Amino acid sequence: SRGDLMCAGDAPAEVADQFEAHVVWMHEDEMLPGRPYLLKVGTRTMGVTIAHPKYRVDVNSLEHLAANTLELNEIGVCNLSLDRPIPFDAYADNRDTGSFVIIDKRTQNTVGAGMLHFALRRSHNIHWQDVRVDKAARADQNNHQPGVVWFTGLSGSGKSTIANIVESKLHTLGVRTYLLDGDNVRHGLNRDLGFTDADRVENIRRIAEVSGLMVDAGLVVLVSFISPFRAERRLARERVEAGEFIEVHVDTPLDIAEERDPKGLYAKARAGELTNFTGIDSPYEAPESPDVHVDTMALTAEEAADHVIAALRSKGLLD
Ligand code: ADX
Repeated sequence: SRGDLMCAGDAPAEVADQFEAHVVWMHEDEMLPGRPYLLKVGTRTMGVTIAHPKYRVDVNSLEHLAANTLELNEIGVCNLSLDRPIPFDAYADNRDTGSFVIIDKRTQNTVGAGMLHFALRRSHNIHWQDVRVDKAARADQNNHQPGVVWFTGLSGSGKSTIANIVESKLHTLGVRTYLLDGDNVRHGLNRDLGFTDADRVENIRRIAEVSGLMVDAGLVVLVSFISPFRAERRLARERVEAGEFIEVHVDTPLDIAEERDPKGLYAKARAGELTNFTGIDSPYEAPESPDVHVDTMALTAEEAADHVIAALRSKGLLD
């Protein structure tokens, strides 16, 4: 099919899904390590995530500099991870099968380009291990389906309060649950992360992965994170099967969240003591069509939780 490669039998192309590459960033929005982008090699397009740069190159001195990301016109060396293997050559051997462009999934803009160096050894040496007890067996034993109930909304919108009540109700119903809460997870697994766009992408990437594992473990996972970007919420949705992901938008207008200010953080942000605060100087991309919309101006937290439980029933996650 499109992009397939025919090669001489005595010189087959190498096939791999992880590479080291030179990346040239071509967009004014910085590169976000961990964000799902598209990568196009020749006529073949697939999903890619880019790791933190190993270094960036000073184009005048060719010096290697430390970098967390790449900004417009910066060049760096990064590992790439594709969502499927491709046949390729090192750019030094073949420019057609060794060069690529990077495309933003949402806008379809070309945001970067680059040259493949070599496949990472792990690409060939790590295999998928089949396990005997699977998700279906666990669901059977638990007497319920697993799933993710993903609460997104501004800080102070009421996500954690509502998620807590929902979890109590599910627990009473005999559902095996776990609540992943942004503030709590940032004390452990994600304590190395702050609130830059790049760190929030990594924060949600890890939580998408953890919630996927928990679904595999048979749990109903409640996730309460601001999760400000659509791209990473979509990544979390795609990590599990269709029907296993319920997005709940805890919709509280900024002025109301700010008025409540339960942790005093909005006041600090307005006073300039806290930067990159969601809604003030860091963006929040509200869901366009959430599975559940909770209007916290119209409902109490208890009513909101009942609304979520009813939605879980109507979507088949609960009997
Ligand atoms: S997320 O944007 O990366 O999803 P997350 O949900 O983990 O955020 O953490 C948000 C919590 O961290 C907020 O509820 C708030 O208590 C605290 N916090 C501290 N600094 C910030 C900030 N700059 N922006 C938003 N929340 C912050």
